[in-house]
Parts: sequence; structure tokens; C-alpha cells
Amino acid sequence: PPAPPPTRQERATGMTDRQSYDFIVVSNRLPVDRIIDPDGTARWQRSPGGLVTALEPVMRASDGAWVGWAGKADLELEPFTIDDTYLVPVPLSADEVADYYEGFSNDTLWPLYHDVIAPPTYHREWWDAYVRVNRRFAEASAAIAAEGATVWVQDYQLQLVPKMLRELRPDLVIGFFNHIPFPPYGIYAQLPWRRQIVEGLLGADVIGFQRVADAGNFTRAVRRLYGANSTKGSAVRVPVAQGEAPRTAIAKAFPISIDAAMFEEMARRPEIQARAAEIRSELGNPDTIYLGVDRLDYTKGIRHRLKAFGELLRDGRTTAGESVLVQVASPSRERVEAYMQLRDEIELTVGRINGDYATIGHTAIAYLHHGYPREEMVALYLAADVMLVTALRDGMNLVAKEYVACRHDNDGVLILSEFAGAADELKNALLVNPHDIEGLKDAMTVAAGMPQRERASRMRALRKRVRENDVARWSQAFLAELAAAKGAR
Ligand code: G6P
Repeated sequence: PPAPPPTRQERATGMTDRQSYDFIVVSNRLPVDRIIDPDGTARWQRSPGGLVTALEPVMRASDGAWVGWAGKADLELEPFTIDDTYLVPVPLSADEVADYYEGFSNDTLWPLYHDVIAPPTYHREWWDAYVRVNRRFAEASAAIAAEGATVWVQDYQLQLVPKMLRELRPDLVIGFFNHIPFPPYGIYAQLPWRRQIVEGLLGADVIGFQRVADAGNFTRAVRRLYGANSTKGSAVRVPVAQGEAPRTAIAKAFPISIDAAMFEEMARRPEIQARAAEIRSELGNPDTIYLGVDRLDYTKGIRHRLKAFGELLRDGRTTAGESVLVQVASPSRERVEAYMQLRDEIELTVGRINGDYATIGHTAIAYLHHGYPREEMVALYLAADVMLVTALRDGMNLVAKEYVACRHDNDGVLILSEFAGAADELKNALLVNPHDIEGLKDAMTVAAGMPQRERASRMRALRKRVRENDVARWSQAFLAELAAAKGAR
């Protein structure tokens, strides 16, 4: 029998010679950032990203291991422990970062899965790197998994891992969660490797998606590839080689969420509330602060939002001084051409609008090309009268949920794109089609003038939803489905 996994103490001290784990998360990025101090020493810090935030409470509770890339090319690192989690770095060469991460993941799959908002690029060398790197992740996970362990693979960068892992370790229980949309077959079918990716995913016992529509798109893709009888409800009959035992995989929606209580607790801290008041006053105490918070990504509809705000200023429906738009755009995937182009366009537009409508005393758009610590984000959410989430396509959008979780004052208005997964749940937001610039302008005006009673009743309903469906519930629901799959074996 396999050796038992190391104890907490063994792991905390790094004194482990028995390294096998019952619960393993596999994602492209490890949940830590490598910080280089001024004196040149490197240290690790927990990173604040959406996926990491979502899994942090689960990892803390389960005493598990995490397999992922440390975020820098050509870095060979030994496994290490942080906050009770055993981290196993998977190295990527500079060429693999270019071909697997920037190329196939973020210039092929990302635009394809987001309804080809930007044109996907298909390169066979990128695909080869994707296969090679996915195999490395599968092998690293297989090497540390205890007999019968549960392995939870995350997101579009690793869609081949479930099948590879099952081939290496048929004893494992394997889950996969896709954090981004799964496109309709008419779009998905463009992918030269569409069959290999579906086969890769079907290596999992449970394949989770954000929306019911995404799960539906996936099961339809399975039927197109394997025939009408290959699915029944959420159950997929997995095609197996002759002589192999038949298997069923479950494809279902599990909408991801946030640690709502943690955001609310932060938003109640006096120093964060003081910071929110300070932000308002530094912006000149305008009537309306509009806020956008996004990775600088073409799926987020930042251009549409800027256009709408610029036109409101042009039409005299508001002025700088009366309103300000704060746009936090955190740097992302900066070596991918489409992201470079987007940054140029956005910065040109911001410059034009400010040039045309700002005054010496009042800016129109406060544009911030940085990431910020969570405390500052919470202060911004509290300071904002209107939150603008205008994504053209988004798996979920956790910013919308964070805003809601922070507004314990039952105030603030959420404008939310119909094309974000969050719109399935957050029905009491002002839902918009971001392509409809007139509609977006009207919603922004309505939000700014919405009576307090209506703001409060909408926010209360939104908050109830976010509080009840938090990230703990998400992971419990997924892991319960996975446990049921294990039981059914
Ligand atoms: C999205 C993806 C994640 C990804 C994150 C940041 O939320 O679903 O898998 O980690 O964006 O992007 P990056 O390329 O910097 O990891």
C-alpha cells in the first residue's frame, strides 16, 4: 500500500520523505508570486488572482498539494510548502512560455472560447508544445498522488491533462473545471485539434463549467463528434478502446464564486472605509463615480465602456466634475500582440477623452494600469456609485460578485453585461448588451440617477445571492459530484 501522506508538521518543516497526497489541484499558475526584494533575495507571496482566491479556502481546509507553473521561464525549483499547501513547480522553457502559454493557450484557445472576439491563431508548433507541457503537468501530478487520490485540474491551459493522467493512474478520481466559456460547436469546430481536446477532457470523471449554456455547448460538441447517443442529460458515455471497461463522465454547470464573507469583513474595516472616503475626496467629491476593474483584456469590453462614457460627456449628459470614470486595467499577457494593440487603443481613447473633456481641476477618466492589493480594491468598490462590468464574453466575472459582497451599506448600482456568466445569477443588476452603446449610455444615466430605495432593494437581492452561493459552496458542490462519481465506480 502507498505510504500515508506527510503530516502538517512534516510539511511545515519541509521534512517530508513521504510525498503523496490525497487531494491535488493542478493549474497553469501556482497560487503564489515570486517577489524579488531590493537586496536581490527571492520570496513567495500568495497571489490575489480570481482562481487563486476561489481555491484558497478549499486548499486551507484540505491540507493538499498544488501543481503549477511558477510564472517565470527557465526556473527549476524544488517543491516547497506555503500556508500548509505543498507546492510543486512545473518548469517551462522560454520557448514553451511562448508556444504553450502565450501561443496556444492565450492566442488560440482564449479568443476561440470567447466567441472569436479576436481572431484565433492556429499553429501546429504551438499545439505540439501544448501537448508536451500538458504531459509534464500530468506526470508531475501522477508522481505525488496517493492511491485513489482526488485530482482537480483547472482551466483551458490544461485540457489534455485529465486523459493523460487517467492513462498514467487509472486509480485516481479526476475532476476538471473550465473557468472560461465553452463555445458553441459552430465556433469550436474551427479548432484543428477539436477531437483531441474533447477526448482530453473526457478523461475526467466530472467536467465542470460556469454556465448551463457552456455545459450544453460541450455535450453538443460530444454528440457532433461521437454521435447522438453519446450523451444523456449531463452524463456522457466516454468512447473507449475495444476491451476497455465503459465509463461515464458528468458534464455540468457549477458557477464559481468568491469568499463573500471575507470581502464583507474587509469592507467593514474602519481604515478601508476611511480610504474609500479619501478616494472620493481625492477625485473631487463628484456626484457619480463610475468604476471599471479588469485585467487589460479584449474580452472585457473596456473600449465599449469608454466610448459610452465619452459620448455622455460629448452629449452634455454629464460633465467632468459631475462624473468620473475610474478604470483599473491590470497588465496582462503583455507579450501577446492582441493585448499590445488593445493597450494602445485604450490609452489613445483615454487620452482623447481626457484631452477633450477634463478640466484643470477635474479629470474625466482616472486610468490606472496597475494591479492593486485587495484592501485598495475593496476601498474602490465602496467609493464607487456605479460598477461597470461590460464584458463582451466572460466565463463568470468575479469582480461583479466582489462589488456586491462589499456593499454591506446596500448601496451602489451594478451594471452587468448579459454576456458575463454572472448575469445568469445576478438578475437584479442593470443588465446590458455592451455592443448597444445607446443602451449602455442609458443604463449609465439611469444608474447615476437611481432612487435610493431602488438601489437598496436591488443590492439586497444581489447580496443575498452572492452570500448564499459563495466559493465554499461552489467547491463543495463540485467535490460532492466528484465523490459521487468515485462511489459509483
Ligand atoms: C482568467 C483565466 C485564468 C488565468 C487568469 C489570469 O481568469 O481563467 O486561468 O489564470 O485569467 O491570466 P494569466 O494568463 O495571467 O494566468
